[in-house]
Amino acid sequence: MALLAVHGGAGGDGPWGGPTPMDPPRLACMEALLSDLGPRLDDGSLSALEAVRLAVMAMEDEGGFNAGVGSVLDETGAVSMDASIMRGEDGAAGAVVGVRRIQNPIDTAHGLLQGGWPLMLCAEGAEAFAAKQGQRLIDPETLVTDLRRAQWRKWRDASLRPGATDEDDAALDHDLGDEIDGPGTVGAVALDAHGRLAAATSTGGMTGKPVGRVGDTPVIGAGTWADERVAVSCTGVGEAYLRACAAHEVGVGMRADRADLRTVCDHVLDLVEPYGGRGGLIAVSADGDVVLPFRVTLMYRGVWRNGAVTTAIGPDV
Ligand code: GLY
Repeated sequence: MALLAVHGGAGGDGPWGGPTPMDPPRLACMEALLSDLGPRLDDGSLSALEAVRLAVMAMEDEGGFNAGVGSVLDETGAVSMDASIMRGEDGAAGAVVGVRRIQNPIDTAHGLLQGGWPLMLCAEGAEAFAAKQGQRLIDPETLVTDLRRAQWRKWRDASLRPGATDEDDAALDHDLGDEIDGPGTVGAVALDAHGRLAAATSTGGMTGKPVGRVGDTPVIGAGTWADERVAVSCTGVGEAYLRACAAHEVGVGMRADRADLRTVCDHVLDLVEPYGGRGGLIAVSADGDVVLPFRVTLMYRGVWRNGAVTTAIGPDV
């Protein structure tokens, strides 16, 4: 049985105010990629690794998420992106940190996975690797949207803490129907027709982050994990997921006899919470379970399973 799940970030406090006018394109993006990739995973023509790479690339290309085009801006008003990808059956992985001139950071991370060594490259080193792979280096300004520029100005003018406009105001802005920001790290987890698992995650980080700040997303075991039992992609305040080694903790939990994916993932979110880990995660198991828990107002999310696509933003009802 094949499975594909995606997230487009989590955030907010308090009750969910319903979708904003900005949400239909985000949901349409998730629905389109799930409808396209799910059947190909199921008929065996697409591996789990390819599915998560293509899913994350599609969300990096949709300007409404905080990854690729539409990434949030750091303290200087510039884009700087992180991404990682992992294959479950052999633990192969690739990651990029602090890249600016790459359209699809997950594609570069995938190139590193395929190369085998090194696993992780940062900044200009990652961009040089991408160029050698034939990826066109871009002007980072082409990744900046009006939404992110407005969000950054709000952060600067109000002297907010880094990330405040990403996480705290998501629910409020939904209430107001006047969204100038929102969560949006993206991720995908997949189980293919051959029982193989993979996970991928990509982000612009947090609005106003210090230059050089690294969150959980590019760190294998923190934001992304895949082994022969489970694949995981996390979203939330990166520092907390780093401190908890959150994604890897799901892998550890699934090694126990009779481990139940829902219980394991809830326990991991319990571990993350004391560190200020507001967010969620998505996970699929080799047994064909899928869970998408979150501890904040909303998490953009979607699943392809048994030929059907479901997407959601607010709490499960
Ligand atoms: N979870 C994304 C970040 O904190 O950068």
